[in-house]
Amino acid sequence: MKLKKLKIGKTELSGNLLLAPMADVTNLAFRLLCRRYGADLTYTEMINADALLNESRKSFIKGLSSPDDRPFGVQLVGSCPEKLKQAALFIEEEYRPEIIDINMGCPARCITVAGCGSALLNSPELVYMIISELTDSLNTPVSTKIRLLGREEKTLEIARLIEKAGASALTVHGRTATQMYSGSSNIPGIRAVKSELSIPVIANGDVRDEESAERTLELTDCDGLMIGRAAMGNPFIFKRIGHYLETGEKLETDKQSRRLEDFDTYISLLEEHDLLSSINLRMHAHWFTKGLRGSRQVREKINGLEDGRAITELLRSFCQEKH
Ligand SMILES: Cc1cc2nc3c(=O)[nH]c(=O)nc-3n(C[C@H](O)[C@H](O)[C@H](O)COP(=O)(O)O)c2cc1C
Repeated sequence: MKLKKLKIGKTELSGNLLLAPMADVTNLAFRLLCRRYGADLTYTEMINADALLNESRKSFIKGLSSPDDRPFGVQLVGSCPEKLKQAALFIEEEYRPEIIDINMGCPARCITVAGCGSALLNSPELVYMIISELTDSLNTPVSTKIRLLGREEKTLEIARLIEKAGASALTVHGRTATQMYSGSSNIPGIRAVKSELSIPVIANGDVRDEESAERTLELTDCDGLMIGRAAMGNPFIFKRIGHYLETGEKLETDKQSRRLEDFDTYISLLEEHDLLSSINLRMHAHWFTKGLRGSRQVREKINGLEDGRAITELLRSFCQEKH
């Protein structure tokens, strides 16, 4: 119905539902799980370009991707065109992602204080330089992810420059950096960007269920939807939304068993890719069990455990008990 095939650069995706880049969330195992449920493109957590160039590169991005993690985008964060280019060339050579995305939306102070993330939106010339430098040097399509600016004309100016510099797609989170996550995503603001550009524009912000997905696609007229927080602990959301957009019908499933089964699969994927020790398993367990029967007691028990393996055992038995 409303499920369109999104094409970014030369890559035609099987649909138009994207998993947002999220630090501490969208590791390889989580992306693989979302992909199983129909995420058509997934992005890595943001990778700091300066750190990537300074540290031993191989260990820095250990477990970044795998052959079945396709198509995927790597997101870089930085403010120096040359360093971003060097980091992107390394990523291109090493991983051959379908897309390299530049973070121009992160409002966290630790990022903006270095002139990165949403701070870049105050320097349209630098934005143009960064995207041009990358599109001139890479074979990989380049996309970027922005937030809205306080004045619509400023947002449109940046969006036009991004397109002119050769970007293959633009994602717009419908909040300003000052808003952080408060208020709601500004649908007309995203629509204004979409109307202005010829490259694919992806709408982001507050897509949390079938209705909000349909509404966002319809009202922004965008080419794709990017889902962030609603996927945390709930990768099944891609199947729900995809099914609804295709058929107009909602999937009825048992939330309790589905979420626990997904968490069990997630742990297996983390183990398979040797990622268990590199994530905060307690935090992830919290997202997957949020709102489920008996989850409060299990979280209390988790809080008393230090060892990742012990947490895994506890959650596995919780999953099995509840099935
Ligand atoms: C925990 C967390 C980490 C995030 N990390 C990133 C990131 O690394 N790069 C980025 O561009 N946006 C990041 N974001 C923003 C999301 O990609 C997305 O733009 C935002 O959450 C709004 O979408 P949503 O309403 O679907 O969550 C992060 C958001 C959250 C909640």
